[in-house]
Amino acid sequence: MGLHRLLGIEIGVPDPVRLDGFYREIGLAGSDGKWGSESCPNQFVIAEAPYRQLREIRVACESEEDLASTVQRLEGIGIGSETRDGKLHVPDPVNKWNIVIEPCNVADIPAVPPRESNRPGERNRLGKRPGVMVEPSLRPPRRLGHVVFGTNDILATHKLYIEGIGFKISDIAGGLAFFTRCSPDHHNLLMTPAPVPYLNHYAMELDDIDAVCASATQYLNAHEGTHIAGPGRHQIGGNMFWYLRDPSGTFFEYFADMDRIVDDEAWEVREDWGIEDSWSLWGEQNQPQVFFAPDDIEEVIAGWNQYHSG
Ligand SMILES: [Fe+2]
Repeated sequence: MGLHRLLGIEIGVPDPVRLDGFYREIGLAGSDGKWGSESCPNQFVIAEAPYRQLREIRVACESEEDLASTVQRLEGIGIGSETRDGKLHVPDPVNKWNIVIEPCNVADIPAVPPRESNRPGERNRLGKRPGVMVEPSLRPPRRLGHVVFGTNDILATHKLYIEGIGFKISDIAGGLAFFTRCSPDHHNLLMTPAPVPYLNHYAMELDDIDAVCASATQYLNAHEGTHIAGPGRHQIGGNMFWYLRDPSGTFFEYFADMDRIVDDEAWEVREDWGIEDSWSLWGEQNQPQVFFAPDDIEEVIAGWNQYHSG
């Protein structure tokens, strides 16, 4: 019972056509403002908006009973919602985007054959060159894995998403950054304090570290100056990562091999992750400053203030 998957997000940008081109370029399937992977279509919906922003988060639950119990929990914390077309629509009163919850089948994406590799005592790639070298094209992103947003009211946001919507906390960093999940992924939603609500990054899962590094390298070669951080492996979530910037200014992450939490009781939530021991086990040790203040943050703040504050 309950939430089991992140279905997708809607992003608002001033130039949707440019973002269309970006999703096509990185190997997603779709067209005209709706993009996804082969097995998860329409995970990214693009709308025109005056400044870049998150507009909707879509989450899957198991049954209609889940929708009814969510309505009750939301009422308990004073938040309204509306059931329409079999989905629960929740306007987030703090961050001013929408949350949509809908019943869907429980399923992971289909497996593709892993690339063979040679490890000491376990030799699988015999008489062959590496898969990443001989496969005819890069392995594309497989799905949207998580979303990270900033909020100017972390406590109200925490209450809405944890007590109301039903996300579970996996880990907490710096006392106020909540890594939360609506599936066995270590995190599908990370909420952090920020001057105004905004989309910090979205992350796409790839098959393996070769796919992460090859895809990031190809993008960087074609788009100088878009590197943000990586490669590395996060302590929180365990995923290997490489962060880049999309043409709208939002960061995107290629990741592989994230922690999976299948037994909630057995998982030990660590609430005391510090800044110095949580960014990467190898590679760059510290989180780059740009993460806390993207180049366009003043524009985003001005947009928020113009359209949402007051
Ligand atoms: Fe991430």
